[in-house]
Amino acid sequence: MKPRELKANIYWVGAVDWDRRFFDELIPLPDGTSYNAYLIKGSEKTALIDTVDPTMASVLIDNLNRLDVKDIDYAVANHAEQDHSGTLPQMLKLYPNAMVVATPKCKNLLMNLLLIPESKIVTVEDGETLSLGDKTLEFIHAPWVHWPETMLTYLREDKILFTCDLFGSHLATSDLYVTDEATFYEAAKRYYAEIMMPFRKVIQKNLEKIKDLQIDVIAPSHGPICDKPELILEAYRDWGYAPPKNIVVLPYISMHGSTKKMVEYFVAALVERGITVKQFNLAKADIGKLAVALVDAATIVIGSPTVLGGPHPNVVYAVYLANALRPKLRFASIIGSYGWGGRMVEQIRGMMSNLKMELLDPVVIKGVPKEEDFKALDRLADEILNNHTCFINLTN
Ligand code: FEO
Repeated sequence: MKPRELKANIYWVGAVDWDRRFFDELIPLPDGTSYNAYLIKGSEKTALIDTVDPTMASVLIDNLNRLDVKDIDYAVANHAEQDHSGTLPQMLKLYPNAMVVATPKCKNLLMNLLLIPESKIVTVEDGETLSLGDKTLEFIHAPWVHWPETMLTYLREDKILFTCDLFGSHLATSDLYVTDEATFYEAAKRYYAEIMMPFRKVIQKNLEKIKDLQIDVIAPSHGPICDKPELILEAYRDWGYAPPKNIVVLPYISMHGSTKKMVEYFVAALVERGITVKQFNLAKADIGKLAVALVDAATIVIGSPTVLGGPHPNVVYAVYLANALRPKLRFASIIGSYGWGGRMVEQIRGMMSNLKMELLDPVVIKGVPKEEDFKALDRLADEILNNHTCFINLTN
């Protein structure tokens, strides 16, 4: 992909990574991603906003060459994670006059992660500005989206907010701007669920901080650029702060069919009561889709057999992830089966300490489900409906 002009003297110079399928060797990327870098040519100075993942350094360098960039004065590092900062060392070699611009915390990380010399970094305080001549960069500290050092850069004259990871999406596309809103929404929600959801309380403060900015364009460093900022701002408000919805997320696994029979009965019981269910068989589930489902759900019910006295290892992984992502869940329960005993319930409960949820009485039975076990599942479905009716808005 060649450089793309956003506006006069403002260019996208990043790289689209169509083939990447994992991030941090953890997060599935079904639709690839992009590393967006931006070049701003002021009347006196030139700034680069973020760089690209080191695996795609040559793409950024080619783009800068195509624009015949002879000098870069400032390389703004909104975030120290290597998919945005990793090509800074090469930029400093190619453009020896360039100074890296970063928050004080980012400076420390850049020196440690990338061995950038202290003398090459200037720090900026929250609200500080930097003139490029006819263009002005304003730096807005926005810590914990999703590292401690993160900031946003606002280009005042053009009303463009460069947000790095915040409002990003892992979506490889040839479109510079959001064109297919449904596809963008899904990718942005997945990104929010996997990367930003654990920090939703601090994101709320950061959204508050930018609420009076006039923003025409949100230019993140992953995925397409948003020229209807309200689209993503409203989505973040909904995902982060709207009350949870009348949804039960049900991750489960079954070894010999007993837990599966319970899940099938229980899902039907919930649906009969007007509750939306998102069911995931952990033997083959896309863990990213599970994360997305957790964004809006009021309740999680975990289905597990008992293995070596505890939950199935796939259940351990899913519960660990749910606990780490800190969704808005209000209620939890556990259903499942055992052969001769174990501490499955206690172990799962112990793994959910981050989540401030009420634990509804689990239904954990011996062997295959029998009549009284199905009644217990009906009782649990009633209890969930009652809690959803009392504590959340039932209209999804
Ligand atoms: Fe896209 Fe936190 O890096």
